[in-house]
Amino acid sequence: MMSASPHNAVTVNDVGPRDGLQNQPKILTPAERVKLVKALLGAGMTHVEVGAFVSPKAVPAMAGADEVLAGLAGAGDNTVLTVLIPNVRGYELAAAAGAKSVCMVLYGSDAMAQANAGMSRKQAEDATAEILQQAHSDGVRVISTIAVAFECPFDGPVEPQLVAEIASRFLELGTDELCIADTIGAANPQQVRSLTQALVDRHGAEQIGCHFHDTRAMGLANVFAAAESGIRKFDASIGGLGGCPFAPGASGNVATEDVVMMLEQMGHDTGIDLDGLMRASELAQDLTGTAPGGRASAWIKQDVMKRRTR
Ligand code: COA
Ligand code: ZN
Repeated sequence: MMSASPHNAVTVNDVGPRDGLQNQPKILTPAERVKLVKALLGAGMTHVEVGAFVSPKAVPAMAGADEVLAGLAGAGDNTVLTVLIPNVRGYELAAAAGAKSVCMVLYGSDAMAQANAGMSRKQAEDATAEILQQAHSDGVRVISTIAVAFECPFDGPVEPQLVAEIASRFLELGTDELCIADTIGAANPQQVRSLTQALVDRHGAEQIGCHFHDTRAMGLANVFAAAESGIRKFDASIGGLGGCPFAPGASGNVATEDVVMMLEQMGHDTGIDLDGLMRASELAQDLTGTAPGGRASAWIKQDVMKRRTR
């Protein structure tokens, strides 16, 4: 591997234990979810989305997020364990359970806001502004993620100008991070390059992240396009698990294995140990019973074996 300059450091946030598991036919227990998160941390990952404070009626697989957080107490000061929230109630539950980082969902369309959280786009924005204020006085960090930032499964294409306006508003309100999410995996690399370049030119890359799904096999190309714009924070899911139950047509996130392998080979430093990542990937597969989507797994395993016998 090439040695990486600090400029080349990349943060990969594994959202498998949330985005990945919420759509699996098999529901994992909180203890199993804790085990998966610990395997990811064991591979040197510092950022993991560990669950969601959402209605257990809406997403049964995320029930017991408080138990997951409790099971991870003492995971270390250097780790950022995030929980997703859809509304103020979610924030209150997350804060009461000791969450130190929350991911609040904003939307590029009204129909998606309605389908996901029973709100309008504007209502979700107002709730986020309220949560930001409360979180800052509580010492909780907030990621504001704009779902369906390129295309909505109900309302169709989303204007980049709208996404840019929402991003500006929440960066100005002091969100710790702003994440651009291609929830249904509909974006192409050209669109990603253009939107992320405009955002980075205006705000810098420090607080901006991207979240891609691999629905149309463009996940990795979209990571590349955003990286070319200077983005250095990416969500990915171990084994490519995932999908959004409220967004028809959404399939798994781009696989952590694939993102890490590509970025490392390009000279970026993810700080992630590939051997450990393979163990986490195998665990994800064992626990869920679904085949991992990570295309890089076979190559990485071979490479790890070679290094072990060297
Ligand atoms: N966590 C847990 N329960 C919640 C909640 C939250 N964040 N927000 C509301 N509730 C509860 C309410 O207290 C109420 O409980 P009750 O039936 O016992 O009285 C119930 O959920 C319904 O609340 P209501 O305000 O009528 O909302 P709704 O039925 O329209 O559901 C959400 C709204 C946001 C709770 C629900 O759609 C949801 O959890 N969505 C999350 C979707 C998701 O995770 N998507 C994937 C990530 S992008
Ligand atoms: Zn997603």
